[in-house]
Amino acid sequence: MKRAGRLLARTGPLLKVVVMNSNHARLCPSPEWAEHIQNEILPEVTSGVDLGQDMLEIGPGPGAATEWLRQRVQNLTVVEIDEEAAAKLKERYAGTNVQVVVGSATELAYPDESFDSAGSFTMLHHVPTLALQNKIFSEAFRVLRPGGVLIGSDSLPSNDLHHFHADDTYNPIEPAALLTRLQTIGFQRITVIVDWSVKFVAVKAPRE
Ligand SMILES: C[S@@+](CC[C@H](N)C(=O)[O-])C[C@H]1O[C@@H](n2cnc3c(N)ncnc32)[C@H](O)[C@@H]1O
Repeated sequence: MKRAGRLLARTGPLLKVVVMNSNHARLCPSPEWAEHIQNEILPEVTSGVDLGQDMLEIGPGPGAATEWLRQRVQNLTVVEIDEEAAAKLKERYAGTNVQVVVGSATELAYPDESFDSAGSFTMLHHVPTLALQNKIFSEAFRVLRPGGVLIGSDSLPSNDLHHFHADDTYNPIEPAALLTRLQTIGFQRITVIVDWSVKFVAVKAPRE
């Protein structure tokens, strides 16, 4: 069901409700949002993709994607800048295959070639500058192993989305520029899908 996705992508009832924090606090932890991410985003961006054993999730928030992803890899590391959100995830996933780390994905504390796959969902528009978004892409590229894959999605720019983010960071990515940005960083075999959201898959070339 695409309704929850459209709340962060185009028009929807919650977009008429005041400030971003309460909008996000209500939508992002909701079962409808998890259903949207798990049924409409993740199957499409992982179709034909080998996530490997070790995956990195960037900006998990309340964990809508985390639960789905952790069942498909051996080890899932999630990096979340918000301490409160990270603490909740730590509690929920204690003793599981999910390792929760507080930090910024613009500066990952992992050696090169640590992960087989990386994913970022509905978070890039919360990163305040194009340069920092590019840093996230380049850090993901750095920590991916050769042959590794980056998958992701985000909301499309719109007036409604802008209003939804009142008093918060709103820096949506331009889908048309995404391919060039990823390619400049070094990714190959890049797919960008644009419908009512933007989804992408990009590969770090395998070692020759
Ligand atoms: C709108 S939420 C999306 C959460 C989840 N991925 C989803 O799709 O439901 C964006 C999340 O990205 C996190 N975030 C923003 N900038 C970040 C950064 N530089 N590094 C790690 N996490 C970040 C925010 O704290 C927030 O939890």
